[in-house]
Amino acid sequence: MGVQAKNPFENDDIREDADGQPLDEAYDGGLEGPILTEIDHVAIAVTDLDAAIDDYRETFGATVDHRETVESDGVEEALLKVAESYIQLLAPTNDDSPVAKYLAKKGPGLHHIGYRVADCAAALEAVKAQGHRVIDEKPRPGSRGTTVAFIHPKSLHGVLIELVQE
Ligand code: CO
Repeated sequence: MGVQAKNPFENDDIREDADGQPLDEAYDGGLEGPILTEIDHVAIAVTDLDAAIDDYRETFGATVDHRETVESDGVEEALLKVAESYIQLLAPTNDDSPVAKYLAKKGPGLHHIGYRVADCAAALEAVKAQGHRVIDEKPRPGSRGTTVAFIHPKSLHGVLIELVQE
């Protein structure tokens, strides 16, 4: 009987943080149950907000539930409600905004996904403790009076993720 080759994928109890330090277990931040509770919104970068709203209304009968300019992010957004979630149409308000840069580089398209969480600070700490790269080190105000934090797309399969606490 030969010695069985060790399957590296069985060794999933060894995890490392961003600095290569091993973690004993996935840190759950003391949270009970799943961290993500719902899809809050799917955000789509557009060049012309009114034209995009018209397209969604004419194509799907979707109407604007909330519209807001977030000057600190350099965006104007329109939220179209779909059941308990939103389609968020996102247009830049100036050339320096991250959405303006995104549009210049990639053109209109899917920009990020907002996942609803019960506690943004606890969810962000849990994500950071597992070694993921984040854009916001601390939660900050989002639109609609929400509290939000972004996780870097390179850290989670190429998708920019926003944690959203209502
Ligand atoms: Co968002």
